[in-house]
Amino acid sequence: MGEVARSGSAGGGGGDPVLTGTGLARLDGGLDVWIAPVGLVLDPAEADRCRTIVTPGELAGCGRFVHDADRRRELATRATVRIVLSRYAEVAPGEWRFEAGPLGRPEIASPAGTRLRFNVAHTRELVTCAVTETADVGVDVESVAAHPDLSRLAASVMSDEEFAEFEHVADADRPARFAAAWTLKESYLKARGLGLSLSPRAAAFDLRAPGAIRATFSAEAADDPAAWWFASWDEPPGHVVAVALRTGRAPSRVEVRRLVSFDGRAETAGRLLRRSG
Ligand SMILES: CC(C)(COP(=O)(O)OP(=O)(O)OC[C@H]1O[C@@H](n2cnc3c(N)ncnc32)[C@H](O)[C@@H]1OP(=O)(O)O)[C@@H](O)C(=O)NCCC(=O)NCCS
Repeated sequence: MGEVARSGSAGGGGGDPVLTGTGLARLDGGLDVWIAPVGLVLDPAEADRCRTIVTPGELAGCGRFVHDADRRRELATRATVRIVLSRYAEVAPGEWRFEAGPLGRPEIASPAGTRLRFNVAHTRELVTCAVTETADVGVDVESVAAHPDLSRLAASVMSDEEFAEFEHVADADRPARFAAAWTLKESYLKARGLGLSLSPRAAAFDLRAPGAIRATFSAEAADDPAAWWFASWDEPPGHVVAVALRTGRAPSRVEVRRLVSFDGRAETAGRLLRRSG
C-alpha cells in the first residue's frame, strides 16, 4: 500500500485544499474513508448547513424519526454523503440522486456515468462514508462495548473456527475483538450489497496475527477471499471502522478523514488497526 492513514493532524486542515474544503479530492485508484461526528449538528449553525445540503424529501424523512438523536443522525448522514461525494466531482451536494439496489444498497443514479462508488454506515454518534472508484466497497462502524452475553452473540455470528479462537481471547479483550470481527463481516456483506441476507458466518476473519486480517469464506458466500482487501481503524478511540474493497490488492493509497464542519473542513484521522496483505 502506498500510504497508510495517518493519525489526526492539526484541526482545520492546514493548507491542504482537501482538508480546508476548498479543493477537489482525487482518488486515483485509492480509497477514502470519511467520518462525521453526529454531535456536530448540535451546533445550530452546523444543523443549518446540513439543512441547506439535503433535499426537501430527505429533510422530511429526518422529521419522521421519533427521537431527537435519530433525527440528528439521519440529518448528519444525508448531509455527510452529499458533502463527501461533492469533494470528488463538480456536482453541488444537493444535486446527487441515489437509487437503492434490490436489497437496499444505495448507488449514485445521477449524475449518470460517474466512476464513484460509496457506502455508508452510522451509529448514533458517528457517520462514516467510504468512497472509491468502480470497485465494490462496504463500510461498517461500531463502538467497542461490553455486552452482557457476548459469548452467545459471538457464537451466533461467527464461524465455528472464529468462535473457537474467540473463546481463547482474554475477557478484557473480547469486546474489541468482537467489534473487529463484526465490522469486517458487515463491511463485506455491505460491499456485496447483500446485507444480512447472507449469514455473517459465511465470511470469517482470522485476526490472530497483530495488524493482519486473513479472510476465509464458506461455500455459502460463493466468493473468493483473494478478490478482496480489508482494513480497520480505531476512530475515534473506542470505535472500530472497517472497510471491504473488491480489488484483491491494497488500494494505491488510503486516507481517513474526520469532518470538523459541514462546510467541508476536515482533518486526517484514524489509527490503522489491521489490514489484509
Ligand atoms: C445493510 C444492513 C446490514 C445495514 O446494517 P445496520 O447495522 O443497520 O446499518 P449500517 O449503519 O451499517 O448501514 C446502514 C447503511 O447501509 C446502506 N445499505 C442499506 N442496505 C444495504 C445493502 N443491502 N448493502 C449495502 N449497504 C446497504 C444504507 O446506506 C444504510 O444507511 P441509510 O439507510 O442511512 O442510507 C442491514 O440493514 C441489511 O441487511 N439490510 C438488507 C435487507 C435485509 O436483508 N434485511 C434483513 C434484515 S435481518
